[in-house]
Amino acid sequence: MTEAYIIDGKSIAAKLREQISAAVASIVATEKITPGLAVVLVGSDPASQVYVRNKARQTIAVGMRSFETKLPEDVSEAELLEAVHRLNSDPAVHGILVQLPLPQHIHTAKIIEAITPEKDVDGFHPLNAGRLALGLPGLVPCTPLGCLMLAKSWLPDLSGLNAVVIGRSNIVGKPLAQLLLAENCTVTIAHSRTQNLPQICARADLLIAAVGRPAMVKADWIKPGATVIDVGINRVPVPATIEEEGGKAERKTRLVGDVDFAAAKAIAGAITPVPGGVGPMTIACLLRNTLQAACTQAGIAMPQLDRSGN
Ligand code: GUN
Repeated sequence: MTEAYIIDGKSIAAKLREQISAAVASIVATEKITPGLAVVLVGSDPASQVYVRNKARQTIAVGMRSFETKLPEDVSEAELLEAVHRLNSDPAVHGILVQLPLPQHIHTAKIIEAITPEKDVDGFHPLNAGRLALGLPGLVPCTPLGCLMLAKSWLPDLSGLNAVVIGRSNIVGKPLAQLLLAENCTVTIAHSRTQNLPQICARADLLIAAVGRPAMVKADWIKPGATVIDVGINRVPVPATIEEEGGKAERKTRLVGDVDFAAAKAIAGAITPVPGGVGPMTIACLLRNTLQAACTQAGIAMPQLDRSGN
């Protein structure tokens, strides 16, 4: 039995960033516009701080301008709205991302709706979500876009395939289902109340797991030869094999996906690893969206980037 092809998100994301760098250099030279991405971070959640730092580093690496607004955990909704309005009217800022989750006292939907849709590089604004559902051009959420690029790097034509998306979030599951529908897949969205999930997954030519439960998708749920895209990034403790000295050592953790990767790779035709699969694509797609937003705002055509990732 041959093992699944491992879809290398890290290298596909690196190629996409190279193409974005070239497009940015060309726009800077010909249009005298430097695309700018503003990230708003509320509070001091360590995971969010790491994401924001990575975003800033990669934004600068592709030749764009990076702006950061840091606000305290107890910022009022009015102050956060004021920060978004300032970025909306700043001509150097082409893309705005408000890092989620926001503190409990802030209405996330209200903040997202305050972002100018043309600068909404997360694609979370209802106008962009509606445009996606209607098949109109707009800004598409980054993680679903990354998943689609990874799937198409292995299967350039998805037309007619049975696609099963596990997860119905506004950030991943729902927009991904719309993208797959636009690729002419027959799309099933499964979720926490779905009955007979293993049987539904077993019909999938393309299976995408976005639930946030470590190794939930078992090998015997997978149709032999299917393409499996794993969106999950779950930090789990590494089982201690030898009791460390005096039990004082910190418990080690590792990242695992929503799919039981070790077993699934014996059944699937192709599969994305965690880490190194969907994760690196999300930031690369954010940079792609910032380039698109800058082009739209400047009234120029978006340079053609290779969507297949090859
Ligand atoms: N937090 C985790 N992922 C994301 C994302 O894709 N966008 C935003 N805005 N916040 C996030």
